[in-house]
Amino acid sequence: MSNSVFHKTRYTVTSLCFILLFLFTLFLFSNRALEPSLSLYRPSFWLTKSQFRSSNATHVRDKQNPPADNETVANVGEEKRERCDLYSGTWVKDDGYPIYKPGSCPYVDEAFDCQSNGRPDSDYLRWRWKPDGCDLPRFNATDFLDRLRGKSLMLVGDSMNRNQFESLLCLLREGLTNKSKMYEVHGYKITKERGHYIFKFEDYNCTVVYVLSHFLVKEGVRINEQGNSNPTLLIDKIDKTSDRWKRADILVFNTAHWWVHGKTARGINYFKEGDYLYPKFDAVEAYRRALKTWAKWIDENFNPEKKLVFYRGYSSAHFSGGDWNSGGSCTGETEPILSGAVLEMYPLKMKIVEEVLREMKVPVTLLNVTRLTNSRKDGHPSMYGKKSTDGKTKSTRREDCSHWCLPGVPDAWNELIYATLVFKKLL
Ligand SMILES: *[C@@H]1O[C@H](CO)[C@@H](O)[C@H](O)[C@H]1NC(C)=O
Ligand SMILES: *[C@@H]1O[C@H](CO)[C@@H](O)[C@H](O)[C@H]1NC(C)=O
Ligand SMILES: *[C@@H]1O[C@H](CO)[C@@H](O)[C@H](O)[C@H]1NC(C)=O
Ligand SMILES: *[C@@H]1O[C@H](CO)[C@@H](O)[C@H](O)[C@H]1NC(C)=O
Repeated sequence: MSNSVFHKTRYTVTSLCFILLFLFTLFLFSNRALEPSLSLYRPSFWLTKSQFRSSNATHVRDKQNPPADNETVANVGEEKRERCDLYSGTWVKDDGYPIYKPGSCPYVDEAFDCQSNGRPDSDYLRWRWKPDGCDLPRFNATDFLDRLRGKSLMLVGDSMNRNQFESLLCLLREGLTNKSKMYEVHGYKITKERGHYIFKFEDYNCTVVYVLSHFLVKEGVRINEQGNSNPTLLIDKIDKTSDRWKRADILVFNTAHWWVHGKTARGINYFKEGDYLYPKFDAVEAYRRALKTWAKWIDENFNPEKKLVFYRGYSSAHFSGGDWNSGGSCTGETEPILSGAVLEMYPLKMKIVEEVLREMKVPVTLLNVTRLTNSRKDGHPSMYGKKSTDGKTKSTRREDCSHWCLPGVPDAWNELIYATLVFKKLL
């Protein structure tokens, strides 16, 4: 009798345990099942967060294809790639570079066309960026274009972004058998005078667009008592080009170089918030507020499920013996800097960028290229930013030690965008 009660109780307890286990399993699976309904772009959230936490947290694992319990070696490799910090690494010599031949791409404007302008050395063309923890995927223009199908990729910023834009056009052009199947929709030729270009890739129904915006916030003018008009910068208002930003699916932003020039750096009667014009204001604090204005606009106007947003970090300049407007030079630099303290330089503005991105609702992937540009004192046009006249290169007063020759360093930034798409399975 008591024995039977005991057995009954034990039976009930065991059943209860099984039911609980079953429910728990169901709960786990229902959670998993929810994941695939997350947007295509969602993984960029994991990227950003994991970068910022810089931990080896397991949540970077691809949620849409969770590895089986008996993980294969391939899966382990894949996970390592996903976690790999693409930006700590080194430049290695590679005779397979550059990806396109110097002088072969019609979209490189004169300012970056160093070989055609008479630059005599060519070793600077043969460096490939190699992350410490993994290899970048080999750049595949066809695959990149496939991922862009039906979409629009836009670069927004100053001439450094035009530099990157021209590089991207040339890289993608390598994927076309018929090179006439890409064109500027209005037939514009790229020069520094225009601030908007739309390139269409006919067979892929996609566009690659450049929008000039020096500060990402709004530039204005003020007429003073003498009747002179002076520029101002409205650090709490978004740039007027922002209507265009809405039309893109993938965006790459940057602003940096104009913040260290004349009026902006001095900040006298220049920065404006609301109706108030600051008699004197610190350019770094203004940069922080402007970026916050940009971040707020992005958060209010972009659906994170529909847009993929990158911010390209500060690109280093290498003027020695003066500044960009006072005789600074980088002529004769033919080798990158491969070691030393200079590689560790990370400007305060970048810390501000990280701080602002961290607080955004829309996940923004930082293309953290600062360190890799620190090395490349050999990559600038220097005195070869202009066509040589009568066969000889005229030494011009100003050298360009901030932009980059093409082919060159910005190709690596675009390879890093491609690597991000491949490793994180985006698009
Ligand atoms: C590049 O990508 C295309 C399309 O995905 C693929 O067919 C081709 O095999 C790839 N090429 C290389 C060299 O991997
Ligand atoms: C091209 O892409 C646009 C979206 O940008 C889409 O609306 C359109 O249907 C596509 N056209 C074709 C022919 O696929
Ligand atoms: C290349 O494309 C252009 C523009 O679509 C076309 O006119 C031309 O016939 C094509 N050339 C070849 C060899 O297919
Ligand atoms: C970007 O790179 C610098 C080194 O140049 C590093 O100190 C910083 O933590 C990196 N930022 C992110 C978000 O990975």
